[in-house]
Amino acid sequence: MHALGVDIGGTKIAAGVVDENGTILAQVRRPTDPTDAPSIDRAIAAAYHELAAEHEIGAIGLAAAGFCSPDRRSVAFGPNIGAWRDYPLAERVAELTDTSIPVVVENDANAAGWAEFRYGVGAGTDDFLMLTVGTGLGGAAVVGGALVRGAYGVATEVGHMRVVPDGRLCGCGHFGCWEQYASGSALVRTARAALVAHPDRAARLRELAEGGELVGPHVTTAAQEGDPLAIELFAALGRWLGEGAATVAAFMDPSVIAIGGGVGDAGDLLLRPTQEAFERVLPARTHRSRLATIAIATLGNDAGMVGAADLARH
Ligand code: BGC
Ligand code: NA
Ligand code: ZN
Repeated sequence: MHALGVDIGGTKIAAGVVDENGTILAQVRRPTDPTDAPSIDRAIAAAYHELAAEHEIGAIGLAAAGFCSPDRRSVAFGPNIGAWRDYPLAERVAELTDTSIPVVVENDANAAGWAEFRYGVGAGTDDFLMLTVGTGLGGAAVVGGALVRGAYGVATEVGHMRVVPDGRLCGCGHFGCWEQYASGSALVRTARAALVAHPDRAARLRELAEGGELVGPHVTTAAQEGDPLAIELFAALGRWLGEGAATVAAFMDPSVIAIGGGVGDAGDLLLRPTQEAFERVLPARTHRSRLATIAIATLGNDAGMVGAADLARH
């Protein structure tokens, strides 16, 4: 059966028809306004209608950046999408698409992690951890071959583990959450602060931003060119990621830890400091028979769509 997988991002949705092998047969993108939940519903419905004209679709999976209800019907809380508070996303989309096929809502990181586990960097493992580094920090855990959902559907909200007592304020309302230090937003926030605090060292970053807003890919480009400040910014992100990953690994002992999101484009500039921090902080490191491999996720932007479709089907 072909299923529609929809990745709901900050400013757009990407919807793809996915077959049983995880291959995307066709896809469309549509802009959305993240402050306006109905605009997201309408974009999803429009994408469905466009794709359903050419493809038979048996289920719809929606990957949403937030705490999802255990019945997989609503988003209880989107820390970075203010419009989602106990929002009946599946019901709205089912109404607008006017179909009776199943519509399910999945946590975005769970969807991406499931896709990487089945078809990407986690294939062949049974115990897998995925960290999605973007606006927020998402987590997905596969333990003994099964996706960890928790008793109430909201397991693996690792971005909100407290890593700094009374640290930075988070979108969830608490202070010191991991995602305030290890996310794409945190990287950009630190880089923008450096433009002001260290104008000389930030010369290349300012040049790349061309008078506009500095964004993540600028930092990646500068780092790849060898810019020392940009390299340090990725090293700091890697330290936060690796230290937190060690804490999660102390709990679940994965064999592969995948890093997803645009920051993965930095490759070894991110991976090496992550690995170093991971090994430094992992308890009983020298007494473990094997250590988890940390790797950049391989499915890129497709992971959310592919995973949401696959989870909707099963
Ligand atoms: C949310 C998660 C989501 C992650 C990545 C976090 O802020 O709480 O539900 O998976 O961001 O989007
Ligand atoms: Na999750
Ligand atoms: Zn938080």
